[in-house]
Amino acid sequence: MSPFLVTRTLPEDATDAALRADVLMGLTSTPKTLPPKWFYDAQGSELFEKITELPEYYPTRAEREILVGRAGEIAAATGARTLVELGSGSSEKTRYVIDALTGLHTYVPVDVSESALTQAGQALIGERPELDVHALIADFTGGLVLPDTPGPRLVAFLGGTLGNLLPAERAAFLASVRALLSPGDALLLGTDLVKEERVLVEAYDDAAGVTAAFNKNVLTVINRELGADFDPGAFEHVALWDTDNEWIEMRLRSRTAQTVKVPALDLAVHFAAGEEMRTEVSAKFRRDGVRAELSAAGLEPAHWWTDGGGRFALSLSVAR
Ligand SMILES: C[S@@+](CC[C@H](N)C(=O)[O-])C[C@H]1O[C@@H](n2cnc3c(N)ncnc32)[C@H](O)[C@@H]1O
Repeated sequence: MSPFLVTRTLPEDATDAALRADVLMGLTSTPKTLPPKWFYDAQGSELFEKITELPEYYPTRAEREILVGRAGEIAAATGARTLVELGSGSSEKTRYVIDALTGLHTYVPVDVSESALTQAGQALIGERPELDVHALIADFTGGLVLPDTPGPRLVAFLGGTLGNLLPAERAAFLASVRALLSPGDALLLGTDLVKEERVLVEAYDDAAGVTAAFNKNVLTVINRELGADFDPGAFEHVALWDTDNEWIEMRLRSRTAQTVKVPALDLAVHFAAGEEMRTEVSAKFRRDGVRAELSAAGLEPAHWWTDGGGRFALSLSVAR
């Protein structure tokens, strides 16, 4: 059996402090916002997996189609011995790359969700006995320190998660990814593409209401962790397409005028009837924009692959 290590790179109270700081800042801003990373407790990670199976949610199927077709090319181009995956979740699609990388020594899944990392790691170790799996419970936006493992290194960032960062955050994030790489190492990046508004909005507002439950889960997390008294039923899920920014925005709209208490922050927050709080952006990309952002971070775009429907892109870029 291969080794399976789980390392928490931040002390537990650092996560608490980060949640407190984000909630305080977000709920006292105008308009109110909450960052998407707090969706993902065990329940949130499970809800996200259900989203990936919804008929309306095409990105996972489209990205899987590309990975199935291109995993051999990715392996040949990178020859990676260490695969680091940021925001790895279930690692389900990553299997195609792991299987193609015959010389792979260590897989390093990185996620804020401990439950997702544990489940994914345990599933993997039985299948690849020669592979070391070193999971990191960590925030990929905050000074990631990777274990010392053999190169070449391939960093994968799949699922379109890059789109959850705002443009300035994306630039800082890509620069930090570049700093994890040596010349010749590579980044495999999944980006959802701009397309018809109806298709985009339905992907984030499914008929079964799974995305609505996922969106409201952030309120449940804040209730549990900070003793707040959010009533998720008093908020409505909203998904809209912002044409100027080319991103989907998920919001929670207060159904009535209400005051929510957050005792751990000594805070009472008033919501007007109809007031909307942003909980996620999901930017959609065009090829030129992705190339420009990668180049600005010191990454040389080498391959661009899309699914047959042209809905989603996977790019491979190399550290200069
Ligand atoms: C949209 S899901 C994508 C999951 C998977 N990569 C896929 O393609 O299906 C985003 C994943 O990133 C994780 N995540 C979100 N923000 C994070 C952060 N700041 N640091 C580390 N992980 C994060 C979530 O827990 C979740 O597993």
